[in-house]
Parts: sequence; C-alpha cells; structure tokens
Amino acid sequence: PKKLIIDTDPGIDDAMAICAAFNSPEVEVIGLTTIFGNVRTPTATSNAFILLKLAGKEQIPVAEGASSTLSGLSKTRVADFVHGTDGFGNTSQAAVQGLRHEKNAAQFIVDMCTRFPGEIHILALGPLTNIALACQLDDKLGQSLASLVILGGAITINGNVNPAAEANIFGDPAAADYVFGRPLPTYLVPLDVTTQCKLSGTELTAMNGCGAYGSFLASITHFYLEYHRRVMGIDAVYLHDPTAFAAVILPDLFTWSRARLRVLTEGIGAGMTIADVGDKKWNSPNAWSERPIVQVALNVDPEGVRPAILER
Ligand code: BDR
Ligand code: CA
Repeated sequence: PKKLIIDTDPGIDDAMAICAAFNSPEVEVIGLTTIFGNVRTPTATSNAFILLKLAGKEQIPVAEGASSTLSGLSKTRVADFVHGTDGFGNTSQAAVQGLRHEKNAAQFIVDMCTRFPGEIHILALGPLTNIALACQLDDKLGQSLASLVILGGAITINGNVNPAAEANIFGDPAAADYVFGRPLPTYLVPLDVTTQCKLSGTELTAMNGCGAYGSFLASITHFYLEYHRRVMGIDAVYLHDPTAFAAVILPDLFTWSRARLRVLTEGIGAGMTIADVGDKKWNSPNAWSERPIVQVALNVDPEGVRPAILER
C-alpha cells in the first residue's frame, strides 16, 4: 500500500475522507497532521484523536501543525457555519486523552520523507501552511515525495468562500502560491471536480447503522447537509475531501491537465487560483512562465468516485 500522510482540518468532509482512507487497502495511513481551516488548529488536533479512537487506530501519530499563516497572521476565521463550532456538526463528541502527539507537522513530514524516500504520499485537505513550512525545512522535499494531492482551488468555476476563492487556498494564499511554485509532484483537485461528486440526503441517512464509520458520519453530517440545503439549494453534500482521497487511490477516474498555477495573495481576489492550462507559448514571459508543471483535475467520473467512497 501507499504510505499516506493526511494533512487535515477536520471538518466533516475531512472525517469522511479519513474514514475512507482507513478502510482502503490501497493505502497505509502513517500519520495525520493538523491545520487550521474549518476549525482552529487545536480543535483539528482533538478531532484527529477522536477519529483515531473511532477507528481503533490509536497507534497512528498525530502531528500538530501551524496555527497561523505562513506570513504570521493568526487565523481567527473558521467555517463554523459549514462544519459547526466543533468541526463535527455540533455533536459534542467526547474528547480523547492520552494519545501519541508528535512534534510539529512540517518536521514530521520532512522526517517521514527522509526515512522513506520516494514512498510518501501526502493528501492535503486544508490550507497549505504545513506543506509550505515542510518545503522551507527541506528544499529537496520534491525529490523524496512520491505525490502531493491537494484539495484546493476553483479553476473554471466560482470559489466557495466568495466568487474568487476556494476555502483551503483562501485560508493561506501565500502558502498556496509558494507550494505551487515548488518542484513537487503536485496533483490539484479543485472544486470543478469535487462539486460533481455528491451524496444525497437519502444516502447519508442510509449510512446510519453501517458500521462505526457509517453511524458516526451520518450523525455529524446532518449539520453539513443543512448548510448545503440552505445555502447551495441542493439536497446533497459535496464530497470535497473524499474526492481528493479518491484521486490518491483511483487517479484514472480523473482527467488530468498540465498547468502552471498562481494564487492572488491580496486585494478583492485574494485566494483566487489562476491556472495557465496546457503548454502555451506566450509571446513574452509572465508570472506563470517559470512555474513548475502541476497536474490539475478538470474532469471526473462521479459515478466511479461516489460508490468507491460510499462503500468505504
Ligand atoms: C474545503 O474547505 C473545507 O471546508 C473542506 O473541508 C474542504 O477541505 C472545500 O473548499
Ligand atoms: Ca478540509
């Protein structure tokens, strides 16, 4: 199996992706690293412990990540209106004490890549601060990392924080712009494909009673479903983070395009990801020209992704 580190801000769809990963023989989850986003970083860490306990996988290390952006802004914005103040749909889960707590997330990522060169895959499900910090600790990280799959951006459609920006990129635009400029084996899974992969209210209700994961996910997802009904006008939830996980185990369900990426870091478009798709020959150099190629998923087979996630 692929050795997988999940960098995460759990988060309801993060919890879905993590449970799916725990149930997938294609991967071995070797660590969770935490980041602010849906919740603040300490809550993300507590929620990671709750998921390990649920899964009976308390031996998996959790490494706590940054609590402020790459440029040092402490993050006060959380997505409590999407995920609840606790990140799990205001379900008052019991705290889990006494589990293994690793040193900081960026150092953990670098250490694992040093120990297992060419074998580590990272699935980044929150703002990219920890990944940026890991690149700063080890500027050759790209040579030892097998792949970096990122849930982020909205390339040909509007964002979900505002018309310009998707939430994870918006959480730390400078970190995202930095990571997209590094020579890493990056695969970007944007909203363009994740909004095509949904589970209906009926499917979510039917998960109740389907094992520990099914019952837990059905309970925390009520709040998330209400948000989608009220704000998006759909009787379903988007499978953002689980779709990015599907790209780790079933990459052939996606259409990958070569692109160079920049992120706007200030102004009304802060957090907007702009892709130069294809190998265009521009007349003169521009801010994209020197950027490394990343693979961007611009299409997906949702009827491949949905059942794969549901059954796991
Ligand atoms: C992303 O933002 C978070 O709310 C979700 O967990 C997902 O990672 C979607 O834009
Ligand atoms: Ca997330």
